[in-house]
Amino acid sequence: MSSTSTAFQLHSSVTSFVSTTRKMLIGKDWVESVSGKSFPVYDPATGELLATVTEGDKEDINRAVKAAREAFDSGPWSKMTASERGRLIWRLADLLEKHTEEFAQLESLDNGKPLAVARAADVPLAVDLFRYMAGWATKIEGTTIPISVPYTPGAEYLAYTKREPVGVVGQIIPWNFPLLMAVWKLGPALATGCTVVLKPAEQTPLTALLLGELILEAGFPAGVVNIVPGYGETAGAALAAHPDVDKVAFTGSTEVGKLIVQAAAGNLKKVTLELGGKSPNIVLNDADVELAIQGAANAIFFNHGQCCAAGSRLYAHQNVYDKVVEGVATIADKIRVGAGLDPSTEMGPLVSEEQLRRVCGYIESGKGDGAKAVAGGERLGDKGYFVKPTILTDVKQNMKVVQEEIFGPVVTAMPFKDVEEIIPVANDTVYGLAAGIWTSDLSKAHKIASHLRAGTVWINCYNIFDAALPFGGYKQSGWGREMGRDALDLYTEVKSVCIRL
Ligand code: NAI
Ligand code: MG
Repeated sequence: MSSTSTAFQLHSSVTSFVSTTRKMLIGKDWVESVSGKSFPVYDPATGELLATVTEGDKEDINRAVKAAREAFDSGPWSKMTASERGRLIWRLADLLEKHTEEFAQLESLDNGKPLAVARAADVPLAVDLFRYMAGWATKIEGTTIPISVPYTPGAEYLAYTKREPVGVVGQIIPWNFPLLMAVWKLGPALATGCTVVLKPAEQTPLTALLLGELILEAGFPAGVVNIVPGYGETAGAALAAHPDVDKVAFTGSTEVGKLIVQAAAGNLKKVTLELGGKSPNIVLNDADVELAIQGAANAIFFNHGQCCAAGSRLYAHQNVYDKVVEGVATIADKIRVGAGLDPSTEMGPLVSEEQLRRVCGYIESGKGDGAKAVAGGERLGDKGYFVKPTILTDVKQNMKVVQEEIFGPVVTAMPFKDVEEIIPVANDTVYGLAAGIWTSDLSKAHKIASHLRAGTVWINCYNIFDAALPFGGYKQSGWGREMGRDALDLYTEVKSVCIRL
């Protein structure tokens, strides 16, 4: 394992970006917090200080909401045509693409993910989402509706609906895909004509702030996007409760999702939530076992298991169970764990010391309940926040490690006898974000898919995301959808207009 991020030759603009205290974006200005306070951001590969960021608080949220309100109510943005909005978003996508390497390096440094992954997935997905949403700006349409109105006989009407932007949106995002989560949120808000106050996660605020520079460069008017870094309990809570915010969109823990709902009740702002998961990944006895093994490993180890959709409960038919577990364990043992910027790294550190403690705590809890670690099962090294890719067998459905979201590279594996038996077990969770099925019988796969209470079902693949494909959760995994056409509906209000002719 290598744990130094410093050996890598960083892009000069990344080095200079982290060398001064980063300010927040309010209106069109980069400003310090009202309190003058700032907070540290750490390199998860070393635990050392990476950057210092101005610390937004309630006062700063107030300033940012005011800027967003003005931009929405009376700024040039409110008069801009849909085509102009679309062009601005497209320009932002071009700028982001041009700066792929800087964003990838900064993301790798801040979050710990392998640089190659940030280059190949995080940044290109973000660019693609902006382009997809840019195209939607001119296609946010209403309908004309033939109305009859029985109590005004003989009268004629023209009735139609419009989709109008919901208004000022507060967006609170997590640290697992810092740039991509910002873009998933900003894309539909900008396409529909909303204005935004974005609060990045305190662990990983850097790429959102760098994106802020491109937002200004692209030519978005002042106040359309405001970015306030800070802690959840202060800046985040103030944003969720703010009476002048029309909608809050949140991605993070189910626990905080419930707090957001309570905070939003004050002015009944609209709420969308993308929360936790404990997604089942089901291997049938007729699956292409090699494909399923690769897929099951990718489902849990991608992004170090720090994915809300991670395939964290592996259920394999008893005829293939041993082979699948052995296959995934072999992959787990071979994964090269190290600093994100080390070119040989396949899995980086967890994002923070808190997450390291949390994930290791779950592994210990599993062992205490009688689970066996057939791969990994412990922290790696004593510097940085590394955990070995882990498979727990001998688990029971009611164990904490099977029921609760671990959010690390830890999968539980259980055998099953028949398909009918496994569907209720797969659904036996408070979550409902995603699920995987591995089989060569597509007819069976479709049937199982329709019985799984999950927002996404992947068949013979896993972790496949696209800007056009809606993503979100059933049950306690959330409210609403991100991406695709469905996301746009949640950033608009429907206005019915009725004219007597
Ligand atoms: P978290 O839910 O506390 O943080 C996510 C975002 O919410 C951050 O921007 C944070 O500053 C903000 N936040 C925290 N408390 C808030 C409050 N009271 N009001 C408004 N905003 C608030 O998640 P955390 O503590 O970083 O991770 C804990 C667990 O949450 C993880 O182990 C994982 O299980 C889950 N999680 C799920 C994610 C997902 O993608 N669904 C992403 C991150 C975490
Ligand atoms: Mg938290």
